Amino acid sequence: MGNKIKKIGILTGGGDCPGLNAVIRAATRTAILKYGLEVVGFKNGYRGLYLGQTVKLDMDAISGILPLGGTILYTSNKTNLFKFPFEEDGKTVYRDVSDVGVKNIEEAGIDAMIIIGGDGTLTSGRDFARKGVKVVGVPKTIDNDLALTDVTFGFDTAVSVATEALDRLHTTAESHHRIMCLEVMGRYAGWIALHAGIAGGADVILIPEIPYDIEKVAEKIVERRRAGKDFSIVVVAEGAKPKSGDVVVSQVVEDSPDPIRLGGIGQKIARDLEELVELETRATILGHLQRGGKPTAYDRILSTRYGKAAVDLIMEGKFGNMVSLRGGKISYAPLEDVIGQQKNVDPEGELVNVARSIGISFGD
Ligand code: F6P
Repeated sequence: MGNKIKKIGILTGGGDCPGLNAVIRAATRTAILKYGLEVVGFKNGYRGLYLGQTVKLDMDAISGILPLGGTILYTSNKTNLFKFPFEEDGKTVYRDVSDVGVKNIEEAGIDAMIIIGGDGTLTSGRDFARKGVKVVGVPKTIDNDLALTDVTFGFDTAVSVATEALDRLHTTAESHHRIMCLEVMGRYAGWIALHAGIAGGADVILIPEIPYDIEKVAEKIVERRRAGKDFSIVVVAEGAKPKSGDVVVSQVVEDSPDPIRLGGIGQKIARDLEELVELETRATILGHLQRGGKPTAYDRILSTRYGKAAVDLIMEGKFGNMVSLRGGKISYAPLEDVIGQQKNVDPEGELVNVARSIGISFGD
């Protein structure tokens, strides 16, 4: 110890995610009960850091939040203090206002920050660490696409929601002899689709890591019909793309660290399949249902482990790192090594192999 930590700050950034409150709770409890520290939260992610919006986090403030979805600190997936937009002469110009964030941390008497987020949020965390702020990161995202950790919190909940959706789609698909396409989130990684597809008994799983051929998808469905199954379930990751084509973009969010929002591939596949196979087809976009609501028990435990570990890292003076899970054990990795290193599904990996072995098609 000996790094004179008396007060820590917590900030949640990027899209919300089941388990955020469990991390906030565990970090606050550990800070207060184990180390006798004071804890302050910044509201609304980096926007609140810029505006100096703080809230005291004590035992009362975090009482009852373990099963709550969302984040009691609120969040924003738009603000980047290193590239902050201003309107000037009818034009948008970008400036680095990160010094304001550093000043607000100092003025609040905060000695170290826990920054909970995905790649965008942790990139700014890394940049604040480069400016001398004592930062520890916590890996958050339903997409599970962060490097150097086996799993991010929120992923298990998203997979559970998608799996339940698949169970429900099965009964209606079978009753109507239809093809049901379920589009799930995940950005440019197919983790949610792969895991939910296996857990939910999908016939076809389409992921960004394995570009698909729609004729091959149709072949799988025809093969099932020949075997007497005149319904099929297709899980599509929002970032899936055809062999000769690109991802479907639903909108561009200006000022977001990652402005591209994916979405719409499920409907495209449903339309394309209807032309190739004589079965009615319907598309469901699961969307933000995957992010809202209470975390699974697994995510509550993982979030609690991460929150506690983040405070331990601070007290050990191991700044500029992100807590992680490696081989089932809590560990940590330098933020410098995590940032920009998207973790993707290995097309030759064990889980893809399991899926193929039990007859699931990847449309390739
Ligand atoms: O990163 C989490 C995530 O839910 C992605 O899966 C999805 O592509 C994106 O965020 C959606 O962002 P927004 O909430 O801005 O629509």
